[in-house]
Amino acid sequence: MNLIVKDIDRVKNTLEKLHKSKKLFFALFFDERPVHKKYFSDDQISILKATNLISIKQNYISANYRVIKLQNNNNSAFIVTDKVSYKKLDQVMPLHPENQFIVDDMKIKADDEVLEIGVGSGVNVIFSIMSGAKKVTALDINKRTFEFTKFNAALNLSKQDQNKINLILNKKSSLENIFDSVKNKKFDYIVTNPPFEPTPPKSKYLLNSASGIYGLDVIEAILKKTKQHLKNAGYLQMVTFSPGNQKEPFMLKEMLNKYLGAGIIHLNKIGMKYVDFTKRFIDLGYDKEKVDLMNLQAKKDKVTHLYLSMVQYNNQMEDVKIKTSTKIYKNWDIPIYSDVPMGFKPKKSKLKLD
Ligand SMILES: C[S@@+](CC[C@H](N)C(=O)[O-])C[C@H]1O[C@@H](n2cnc3c(N)ncnc32)[C@H](O)[C@@H]1O
Repeated sequence: MNLIVKDIDRVKNTLEKLHKSKKLFFALFFDERPVHKKYFSDDQISILKATNLISIKQNYISANYRVIKLQNNNNSAFIVTDKVSYKKLDQVMPLHPENQFIVDDMKIKADDEVLEIGVGSGVNVIFSIMSGAKKVTALDINKRTFEFTKFNAALNLSKQDQNKINLILNKKSSLENIFDSVKNKKFDYIVTNPPFEPTPPKSKYLLNSASGIYGLDVIEAILKKTKQHLKNAGYLQMVTFSPGNQKEPFMLKEMLNKYLGAGIIHLNKIGMKYVDFTKRFIDLGYDKEKVDLMNLQAKKDKVTHLYLSMVQYNNQMEDVKIKTSTKIYKNWDIPIYSDVPMGFKPKKSKLKLD
């Protein structure tokens, strides 16, 4: 089933209205719970059904996608993604605390030319344009993300602003080629929320998250070529998990030193034990031996903890600094308003509608 851009102003009004009656919105779009149609008007049902946001079976309505209203100090947008329970590798990523972290810290200026690596639902494209970007070039290897980005752009931006988006499909072949489609281009701002989850070796895992045993494979490919693609006063904003010890994310720090020689790591102070994160792969059905291998390697490399971090860089910075983030982002390893990681079914809701 595909998303269909239809009567989009009415879709937005309907979502706004449902969002105000929090319980309905939560039950349908977060808890993935079928809700009796008596709670909706006929008009609301037909509008949401026409876009394929919902399905109806025997008087019960189910969401086909997840919808979240994301806000920062200046802007807000409804963002449609896959559901948390969507298990295929081409999942378009449900919004996580890192998405809030990005839009809270976005420093895009009017008329900036922006590059995004890994567009997903298009959330950063939308907030970039709302912040004044002149043009956003956005790359992804997953074709499904373009359908979501186009839908979300129509839902949140004027026609004129939608025309500022240039979507490019990256080849999956190698991380070395990550910037090939923008080879000779430089940008004012690079924003990226790349795949950064520690992943069992030689395993297939979500395209939106798989990034080697420390979650740093895609990060490294990006950092290697960042300087080539930033204009003189250009700016990098990248959110990532960052491996390290109880004190600091030393692996990310070393990587920034190696490739950029400078940068600020804004550290979300709540760390998580590496072994507590890797456990989920066993519940997801991955080979225990491979998970054990990850933990063993981490022990050798003295990696004990993971953090959520925001990297900022421009050529005015002289060294790598670690600062505590202004806000604390809780439950940063699972989607916003979720009680389980991606690929799991949400637990039964405690909310009662009547
Ligand atoms: C963590 S998701 C972020 C999506 C969205 N930007 C957000 O902030 O919610 C990472 C995205 O990067 C994409 N990706 C993975 N490898 C890539 C590559 N080599 N080139 C471009 N995009 C890639 C994934 O398909 C996914 O959509």
